[in-house]
Amino acid sequence: MSTQSNEIMIELKNATVSYKDKCVLSNINLQIKKGEIVCIIGPSGSGKSTLIRTINRLVVPVSGEVLFMGQALNDKNINKIREKMGMVFQQFELFPHLTVLQNMILAPVHLKKMTKEAAIVKAKELLERVNLSDKINSYPEQLSGGQKQRIAIVRSLIMEPEALLFDEPTSALDPEMVKEVLQVIKDLANTGITICIVTHEMKFAKEISDRILFVDEKTILEDDNPNEIFDNPKTDRLKEFLSKVL
Ligand SMILES: Nc1ncnc2c1ncn2[C@@H]1O[C@H](COP(=O)(O)OP(=O)(O)OP(=O)(O)O)[C@@H](O)[C@H]1O
Ligand SMILES: [Mg+2]
Repeated sequence: MSTQSNEIMIELKNATVSYKDKCVLSNINLQIKKGEIVCIIGPSGSGKSTLIRTINRLVVPVSGEVLFMGQALNDKNINKIREKMGMVFQQFELFPHLTVLQNMILAPVHLKKMTKEAAIVKAKELLERVNLSDKINSYPEQLSGGQKQRIAIVRSLIMEPEALLFDEPTSALDPEMVKEVLQVIKDLANTGITICIVTHEMKFAKEISDRILFVDEKTILEDDNPNEIFDNPKTDRLKEFLSKVL
């Protein structure tokens, strides 16, 4: 469980998302509080990635609003907001031609958030936190999948975001590497940062979440604490989903 406040960090108001003519999410209303740890689960193709992408405007809703700290996202403010709301993808998306250190300091230095010297100090600190200090001068291709994903996470953290979004951060990993990445996220959950994560790791979701969103039928079909979601599912769709994944 995390430490949370009552301040709303992320909000969707009547957000509808379509690809061309096809509606994928219909009239979504959602509030995520500062410090909350929220997992998104649901069948393949139900719109989980679309939902998390809508939160940071990688997908723009056809109607409705998305707000961060009370501010409606638009094309003008989104870059500033993304400094406070990081995102980690399934595929690690490190720059292959840059070393670990160069990958990490690129954004904070480029965006003038830190001097190069300060960014290097911070990068070293973060690498130590995920036990990868010895990889500081390695290139991504010299790292395992789990190591790349841990680098991708600390690369987001160097910007000191208030929220971090993850889309299936472990699904591209070999099984033996899943644990080390989930542990990094678990450690993060205790730091007060707001986390929203799409995952197929049900045990992890149960352990880490304050709240779980079950996405299906173009909507958030259930929104509850992990005990209710897993032990007392309300809809047939969630019961059916759980019977397949548990
Ligand atoms: N860029 C796109 N253009 C058109 N259709 C899309 C696009 N991205 C997703 N879709 C469709 O929208 C629906 C929701 O996709 P989404 O990727 O959000 O599902 P998901 O829940 O993340 O699935 P998975 O568990 O397989 O990752 C699917 O029917 C998908 O085919
Ligand atoms: Mg997805």
